[in-house]
Amino acid sequence: MVNFIVILILYCYVNGSLGSSNEENPINDILPEDGRFNFTQLARKYGHHAMEYKVTTKDGYILGLFRIRGKYRRKKNKLPVLLMHGIADSSDAWLLRGNFSLGITLANSGYDLWFGNIRGNKYSRNHVRLNPDKDVQFWDFSFHENGYYDLPAIIDRVLNETGFKKLNAIGFSQGNTIFYVLCSTRPEYNSKINVMMALAPICYIQNVQSPLSFFISISSALYDVLSALGINEVANDNSLFNTYEKIICTLPQLGYDICVKKIMFPFTGHDSEELEPSFLSVLVGHFPTSTALKTLYHFAQVGYRRIFGQFNYGNAGNLENYNSTIPPVYDLNLITTKIVLYVCLNDKISTVDDVKILRSKLPNVVRYIVSPRWLCNHIDHVWGKHMYDYLFPYVYQVLESY
Ligand SMILES: *[C@@H]1O[C@H](CO)[C@@H](O)[C@H](O)[C@H]1NC(C)=O
Ligand SMILES: *[C@@H]1O[C@H](CO)[C@@H](O)[C@H](O)[C@H]1NC(C)=O
Ligand SMILES: *[C@@H]1O[C@H](CO)[C@@H](O)[C@H](O)[C@H]1NC(C)=O
Ligand SMILES: *[C@@H]1O[C@H](CO)[C@@H](O)[C@H](O)[C@H]1NC(C)=O
Repeated sequence: MVNFIVILILYCYVNGSLGSSNEENPINDILPEDGRFNFTQLARKYGHHAMEYKVTTKDGYILGLFRIRGKYRRKKNKLPVLLMHGIADSSDAWLLRGNFSLGITLANSGYDLWFGNIRGNKYSRNHVRLNPDKDVQFWDFSFHENGYYDLPAIIDRVLNETGFKKLNAIGFSQGNTIFYVLCSTRPEYNSKINVMMALAPICYIQNVQSPLSFFISISSALYDVLSALGINEVANDNSLFNTYEKIICTLPQLGYDICVKKIMFPFTGHDSEELEPSFLSVLVGHFPTSTALKTLYHFAQVGYRRIFGQFNYGNAGNLENYNSTIPPVYDLNLITTKIVLYVCLNDKISTVDDVKILRSKLPNVVRYIVSPRWLCNHIDHVWGKHMYDYLFPYVYQVLESY
């Protein structure tokens, strides 16, 4: 531990840049260009023009939405495809593997692709009235609001711009949880989604192991402490946390051991073949990006309450928010849209046992796919080196057959 701190201090000293207050974080210079590029730049580098749209939700959040219209063999009359990223992440995730990413691969096949960003992340840190840096209220949301407000606003915009009545959707991790929230609380949206492909499905979180289960068990105390300290936003791109993350994780050799093997893999499942050290310096330029502390705690509640329900404020808060001491449960029976579940056997967050529960409760699972890669973990679904082997063929099948 002491060694580690000494190395860290030396590294900061050598780089001499920690105290600097440039708007562009100078630490970014240690990253390769794909680690520094934003969505538009990544798309351009890999041969596509990305258009940016601003979507305003009913409660005033302004979200960044990107579109890539595949340019080689534009598919006429093919439904637009909406891709929703995971927790503390952004639309960038779909492009990080460049020519071997899902976003670029589908774009090369001519699909009309839409990449959403939920409130709070780096492309959606805007509101008509609230200031994310000053107003605590801005961060008073969880994946509930992402599903209830953000997703319908995004879907309506895509349908409006394209003139289609339906779209196909691909959601990774939290990016599919929000579809369950939407389709159960606003069932009229079921008819706007033709099929939703859930990669690493997250709904029930009660069959997870340590260390995740440990964090879930202490989440209530942790949330109280962090809230009392005034921490409502986690992983802001310019925060010390993200700055240190970039410094530590890009240390030669040691960075990979610490950040990936010791910290990330115990949570997600080990699969070093799919996340090699050179990719890490691209990854840390994009992940994590800001999200609300409340989202993390809401997921933890789903875990320890063993109920996929709305945020639990405690008796008094529940009465105030829901007119009931018990938070409403999301009624999965109302999700009539077609759902495809894609699971990985080595995924420690979206476990096979929890997906089993989800599968038994969803009324319209049209396909259940177990990844042919046995070692496939939670993050291989978006960051894996060889996704074209074990994932993309299934994505094409789903987009072509429903
Ligand atoms: C991406 O970066 C370029 C160059 O800095 C900038 O002009 C562009 O507005 C950025 N796009 C987004 C969506 O942030
Ligand atoms: C990506 O693929 C395109 C088309 O095959 C190729 O022209 C380009 O050089 C590749 N880009 C990189 C960075 O590998
Ligand atoms: C999109 O929205 C605009 C403004 O509300 C409306 O005039 C237009 O008809 C809509 N287009 C489609 C295809 O729904
Ligand atoms: C709150 O719930 C009670 C009992 O279920 C009901 O009688 C009352 O009308 C509800 N109040 C509101 C404002 O919905």
